[in-house]
Order: sequence, then structure tokens, then C-alpha cells
Amino acid sequence: MANDNHHVIVVADPAELAKTAAERLIARISANAGRAAICLTGGSSPKQLYQLLATDAYRSRIPWDHVHWFIGDDRFVAVDDPRNNMGMARRLFLDRCAPADTIHPIPTDAADPEDAARRYESELKSYYGFGRLNPARPLFDLVLMGVGPDGHTASLFPGYPAVAEMERWVVGVPEAHVAPFVPRVSLTLPVLGSCHEMLFEAAGADKRAILNRACTTGASIWLVDQAALPENFRGR
Ligand code: 6PG
Repeated sequence: MANDNHHVIVVADPAELAKTAAERLIARISANAGRAAICLTGGSSPKQLYQLLATDAYRSRIPWDHVHWFIGDDRFVAVDDPRNNMGMARRLFLDRCAPADTIHPIPTDAADPEDAARRYESELKSYYGFGRLNPARPLFDLVLMGVGPDGHTASLFPGYPAVAEMERWVVGVPEAHVAPFVPRVSLTLPVLGSCHEMLFEAAGADKRAILNRACTTGASIWLVDQAALPENFRGR
């Protein structure tokens, strides 16, 4: 399925999904002659991708000194807590592959989620070099996203105020509406959307219903496995 803004790539299973995402990530990095910025995601969907990036075959294809790694949202727990999104990415690949100064975690050691949000917002602005986003110069080369069965992405839950935030770059989300039920810190939609490519990964049958309803703004690519593919997309 494709239209001007959305494109769906269907792959057989989660292993194929990870390989396809890795190839797109490497292509985006190569397309940037300067330093590239990648915004990672949490949840379970990207785990295989992160493991793959640490393997010799993929690791050798990434110019690690030229890539900066950010995270789209995090759970407000210590970095060594298994629920911490950037902690997971660090354990699976970043700490083995990327120079420490290219890893930009949300500071979950801040006083509270709001404080963490303010600090991460200023880190993003200082990386970008400007306090306002210019559509002609996206912040990220690639933004990886997951989607929950309720339609949330990053920690932006449908029907709650953070989804509508258009000024701030990062917000504290006091209450999560899916597990794990810990406060979150999330980039806002205008910031996540400031990218050359937004790549959604969706695997598993519990994603089928939400994919059937999914509609996002801006250019996005949905990378889905057969199990997540809604019935009425089959055979297209
Ligand atoms: C988080 C995520 C969240 C996630 C979706 C999908 O911190 O939980 O960033 O937005 O991407 O919930 O999660 P799964 O990949 O585990 O289905």
C-alpha cells in the first residue's frame, strides 16, 4: 500500500523486519556526508535490529564517529533498569560500537520527568544549533518508531495532552496508559516529524487492528511483518 505520504513494506517475519530496517538505517547514514542523527525507539520491536547492528557484518558498515544516537521516548527509570529504552539500546549495541559522546540518552537521573524533558530539549537544540526547527533542515536523518495496540507512538498516548503539544520539543508524561506504568519523557510530534524518514516497525498479530486504522501525518514508512498485516491489505 502506498500513497504520497505513507508507504507500507511487508516482510515475512521479525528477522526480515530487522534486516530491512538495518539496510534503511545504513542507507540514511550514507546519504548524509556530514554527521547523521538517528532517533531510536523503545519497546520490543527494535530489539532484533539493535542486535543485528552489533554483528560484524553490519557494524563494519556504519561510520560510528559520524553518527549520533538519540531516543524518541524513555521510561523514567534508572538507566540500568531493564525498562529503560536507551539502556536497552546501549546493552544491545551502542556501548559496544558507538563512541560515548555520540550517545544522547534522556537524563532519567533528573529530578523529575519535566526536568528531564527540559534538559533533553536543550541538548537537542544545542545539537541542532538553533531553537526553532526549519522544515528545510530536518533534525534527524531517521526516526524509528513503534506503535502500540492503542495507537500510541513514542510516549504520546491518543487523547492525552502531550499529543497536541506543538511548541515544546520534549515533554514529561506523568502517567503511561500502557505497561510499563511508569512516568515517561517523550519527544513531541513536531520534533519526531523533523526527519528525512520516519520508519515505523510493527510486528505481530496484536498490531493488525491498529494498522488498519493507522493514519499519520508527514512522510512515513511502515515496515510490517505478515502477522501484523491487516486482512484487507493482503494480496495488494
Ligand atoms: C516505549 C515505546 C513505545 C513502543 C510501542 C510499541 O517506550 O514503550 O517507545 O512507543 O514503541 O509501545 O512497543 P512494542 O514494540 O513493544 O510493541
